[in-house]
Amino acid sequence: MFYFGADYYPEHWPEERWIEDARLMANAGFNVVRMAEFAWAKMEMIEGKFDFDWLDRAIEVLSSSGIKVILGTPTASPPPWLMSKQQDLFLVDSDGVRQTYGLRREYCPNNPLYWIFTEKIVNRMAEHFKDNPAVIGWQIDNEFGDRCFCSICSTKFQKWLQKRYQTLEELNEKWGTIFWSHVYTEWSQIPVPLAILRSQNPGLGLDYRRFMSDTYRDYQKFQIDIIRHYCPSHFVTHNLMGFGYNQLNYYDNTADLDVVTWDNYLRMQWDMRSYIDPAKAALNHDTMRGLKKKNFWVMEQQSGGGGWEYVAVTPKPGELRLWTYQSIAHGADGIVYFRWRTSRTGTEQYWQGVLEHHGNPGRRYLEVLQVGKELSKIGDLIEGSQVHTRVAIMQSYDTRFAFQVQPNHPNFSYEKHILDIYKGFFHNNIPVEIISEKDPLEGYQVVVVPAMYILTEETARNLEIFVQSGGIVMFTPRTGVKDETNTVVNIKLPGLVANICGIEINEYVSMAVDEDNQVKFGLPELEEDFPTSVWADLITPKGAEVIAFHTMDFYTNQPAATINRCGKGKVIYIGVIGDNAFNVSIARVISNMAGIKPLMKTPPGVEVMERWKGNKRLLFVLNHLSETQEITLDGKYLDLINENQISGIISIAPLNVLILKELINKNI
Ligand code: GAL
Repeated sequence: MFYFGADYYPEHWPEERWIEDARLMANAGFNVVRMAEFAWAKMEMIEGKFDFDWLDRAIEVLSSSGIKVILGTPTASPPPWLMSKQQDLFLVDSDGVRQTYGLRREYCPNNPLYWIFTEKIVNRMAEHFKDNPAVIGWQIDNEFGDRCFCSICSTKFQKWLQKRYQTLEELNEKWGTIFWSHVYTEWSQIPVPLAILRSQNPGLGLDYRRFMSDTYRDYQKFQIDIIRHYCPSHFVTHNLMGFGYNQLNYYDNTADLDVVTWDNYLRMQWDMRSYIDPAKAALNHDTMRGLKKKNFWVMEQQSGGGGWEYVAVTPKPGELRLWTYQSIAHGADGIVYFRWRTSRTGTEQYWQGVLEHHGNPGRRYLEVLQVGKELSKIGDLIEGSQVHTRVAIMQSYDTRFAFQVQPNHPNFSYEKHILDIYKGFFHNNIPVEIISEKDPLEGYQVVVVPAMYILTEETARNLEIFVQSGGIVMFTPRTGVKDETNTVVNIKLPGLVANICGIEINEYVSMAVDEDNQVKFGLPELEEDFPTSVWADLITPKGAEVIAFHTMDFYTNQPAATINRCGKGKVIYIGVIGDNAFNVSIARVISNMAGIKPLMKTPPGVEVMERWKGNKRLLFVLNHLSETQEITLDGKYLDLINENQISGIISIAPLNVLILKELINKNI
């Protein structure tokens, strides 16, 4: 079943209203809601006095309208009676400032008392709802994150280090603590990297970030175990924050979940510009799908402008629908809008729900209802279909954490670099999966490895095997600089992959922030100049063929990019950071080398994705622009929404979507 619904807060509204809510939801085709993730105070208003009657009644109202329920454990927002017990319950931020009560996510995830109260509420909830047939799944907490620097976390960090390194000699050696005489002689001397340390020991900085990520994994697992004990047939998830969130290792932290869900917002008060980059949302989806290599849900799909203090830019008619289908096109099997009705009170008064404050259906409701109607027609076709990709972009949270400690260059962002490379493929309509540095590579033909700064022997070996057996790999600057302890390697860059690249980098140039350079490509299919910035690797080929040269400064005419044949495959090294046109060209060239064709040639701003069910293919064509666009179809298709056959040149209206079923089945 394709799940479609909203995040619902019955505790915010009079009980008499619930029936009308359920009626309107059912009318819009909803079959699921998420509830209770912020209702701790309603379920346990007074310590130890639990009340689930109201939630039973809400579930009853919803399930009589055919709506299933995902329950959230409420630990993201504890009630005041709990937080006033101990100062230690509050998280301490990187400035050493203890949080105060009044927002949410203010708890220290290592506080033992917090775990005790977590255990109580989660136990009671799971026990109470285990046999309720309307409940199908659980969301643990809400958007885990935020590092804590308190003394409890500090002690736990020291224990975590002890387990990892066993002896202080080993830790001192791996972190190189002889530098500035930081040699620790007791575990208790090791600090947490508060912001005041500005530039911290790289080993310490990386390990602390790993530790905090593990902390949330442990805290989540603690809750999952309770839920699974009582409710073995329910699925367990957590709502993540997409590609952009960089404080947790999402690969590790989703390993214990049954399904990945995430929160997809494109228009929020924090960016009031009119332009929205659809590639960003696409990258988010492809990252979330890549976490478990399977379809995901959007647990919070935007349902209006997203504002707290400001009223965020109003989504244009069609955008909510377009963004919903973009989620589905990239592998969403469930869409849950945040939120059902705009709250009249609280921080999120201006975070628009499907319904306005007054609760009467308006434009947003009608748009969602339209999607509901369409899904009732095509949901079965979508169900069970998968996204297949032959291109992977490899990322690593260790590398992200290491770049947080030392960004390397004020104009360099690892995340933006990945986004830019991703956009190259996105604008060519070539589907991509974002994978981790530990993932198996079978099944892909191209693996792009941007700036893999922390490069382990295992990853280097896997890439070599992949290339030897026919794969194509592309690396970019700052690859192979460090080992897994965040120590710089003592071999020439790109370190452990220099050999398969067939090159040595004798000097890497860090460019002034106001400086540009240029690269000249000399490939038959790419004979162009492109502006470059930030980094310039000066490459000495050791068997590789040079495909581009720097054209300015003291390194004019020095090799800037190479290609190396290695076993049955090829390794491309790009020693510069290029612009968008450059990334689009490189993506085209490299895909072409692997025989991967764009799904369709479209004008910029029209995105194409596909989902496969066996050998049947569904094509999603999404016009992100405010003008009608023309596209040329490469065959005969059934337009599933409009229920007609189409072929040849067709036009697609502004912000509109086509879902096409190919009339001849293809082999993948
Ligand atoms: C999400 C969060 C929701 C809600 C929403 C709007 O990040 O999970 O609970 O706060 O943002 O701010």
